[in-house]
Amino acid sequence: MSAAGEGRIAILISGRGSNMEAFLEACERGLLPARVCLVLSNRADAKGLASARQAGVETACIAHGDYPDRQAFDAALVLRLQQAQPDLVILAGFMRILTPVFITPFAGRLLNIHPSLLPKYPGLNTHQRALDAGDSEAGSTVHFVTPELDGGPPVLQARAPILPDDTADSLAARVITLEHEIYPLAALWFLQGRLTLNEQGAFLDGQKIPASGILYRPQDAVRHDAADSGQQRIG
Ligand code: GAR
Repeated sequence: MSAAGEGRIAILISGRGSNMEAFLEACERGLLPARVCLVLSNRADAKGLASARQAGVETACIAHGDYPDRQAFDAALVLRLQQAQPDLVILAGFMRILTPVFITPFAGRLLNIHPSLLPKYPGLNTHQRALDAGDSEAGSTVHFVTPELDGGPPVLQARAPILPDDTADSLAARVITLEHEIYPLAALWFLQGRLTLNEQGAFLDGQKIPASGILYRPQDAVRHDAADSGQQRIG
């Protein structure tokens, strides 16, 4: 962290960037003692890149198609990220599989959010798969990133009911609002030094986090309305 105690967060996106915007807003409102030092995308046309630029955040694009293989692409990402000197690296809808070339240098300070109740449904089309399986609940999980795809130790998990008329889109809309709450909260824990990773798994305040992550309680939100009324809750 900087001398001012402000954490530096780099965010990787591939598309819309609504989770990235949730981070920008949490920083802007002082709920996260951090600043977003770089938004990096593998797609020049990612909508989130434009909104980050508009918000005055440094952005960069490294197109995966310009590299011969995943390792070369990952090495280019590492180089660019290291220039930004992040304390924490956030994958927010970054739709590329990462190799150890990327993961190793950021191990223990690399988080992802995945739109399912991990360990259920790693990979793609998570909401449709939950519907097809007849599940009664869906959700999202923040987890540390390890080389196993969507398989690193979970940190925080938010659950949402599946309603009778749900489609993948209606379910995604319900889940994304929860993502915007849990992801900045997990980042806050990390920047406070409360959230750590070691060979035994993920720990919060020295306690091992359960295999499916800590169950999110909405009252723990990094809440904008509470902050506005001077009653900020920080989990
Ligand atoms: C989010 O729902 C995130 O969980 C998911 O992509 C969406 C990005 O939305 N990530 C993955 O599927 C990664 N496997 P956003 O661009 O609006 O933040």
